[in-house]
Amino acid sequence: MEFNHKSVLLHETIENLNIKPDGIYVDGTLGGAGHSLEIVKRLSDKGRLIGIDQDADAIAAAKERLSNYASKVTIVRSNYAAMKDELLKLGITKVDGILLDLGVSSFQLDTPERGFTYRETDAPLDMRMDQRQTLTAKDIVNDYSEQDLYRIIRDFGEDRFAKNIAKHIVEARKTKEITTTGELIEIIKASIPMKVQKSGGHPAKRTFQAIRIELNKELEVLQDNLDTMIDLLDEGGRFCIITFHSLEDRIVKTSFRKNENPCTCPKEFPVCVCGKVSKGQVVTRKPILPSEEELCYNKRSKSAKLRVFERHLNK
Ligand SMILES: C[S@@+](CC[C@H](N)C(=O)[O-])C[C@H]1O[C@@H](n2cnc3c(N)ncnc32)[C@H](O)[C@@H]1O
Repeated sequence: MEFNHKSVLLHETIENLNIKPDGIYVDGTLGGAGHSLEIVKRLSDKGRLIGIDQDADAIAAAKERLSNYASKVTIVRSNYAAMKDELLKLGITKVDGILLDLGVSSFQLDTPERGFTYRETDAPLDMRMDQRQTLTAKDIVNDYSEQDLYRIIRDFGEDRFAKNIAKHIVEARKTKEITTTGELIEIIKASIPMKVQKSGGHPAKRTFQAIRIELNKELEVLQDNLDTMIDLLDEGGRFCIITFHSLEDRIVKTSFRKNENPCTCPKEFPVCVCGKVSKGQVVTRKPILPSEEELCYNKRSKSAKLRVFERHLNK
């Protein structure tokens, strides 16, 4: 199957990475290598790109797409949470730019057997980005308590019918284990008033998103690793992050601000005594959003936000 994925905010991201031809760049969410291809095209023979993804299908697609630039590219199957260690294995301690384009690729969504899509009715409830992981969406749906299901559907899916959906899931699994996306979709539909189902988007979209975020620990991984990634940047190095969820965006915005101004001294103190030093500067006070044109040809860009941070070593 062809790896179909239209890269989001491509031009804006490449422009903001300020690519130095001899620099070292890391794409922590390589996917189909749409962004990476544009990075590597701008590198000299001395420049280097390290592409990381946890998904075996993405790795295979990216290898193929970047094959003409193989001498400048290293592709690693890993979680970006392990970026520092993966770079150390390659003898790299500082880089000139990092990109994260979060969430799932269209390829993952469009491959029914991966279980991400709410449009297929006979797919297994999987949703693992890393196929080596043992926990799947089926485990969450069948083993989580009603309270935990409610919490994730409410917080990660922002679904106003979260309580009812969680109740219906727990009720349904009493008679039979829920194993397919189709079964889950029917349960969700039964939890949402018909009038709402007809007016909004797909009734299962939010619950599927919630389970995916929970299963792949998407927010935790982001929250826990931003500081380490900022530390990997060399003087003037840029960190570009594209988010698709309000909670993701809040994590990035808060972390970038904190790294720009980490001082914890009370406001009335005339000078800083906490000793916390700024690591750089937020480049985007407001996030960069997709253009009208991009919104027209790429529906997936609808909720995308790009934020950029620039590292300064001696501020
Ligand atoms: C939106 S796609 C990236 C698309 C890519 N920028 C392009 O233009 O083709 C996100 C990719 O990040 C990967 N991914 C998400 N979270 C990850 C993580 N924590 N570690 C490694 N890869 C991750 C997914 O498997 C997916 O392939």
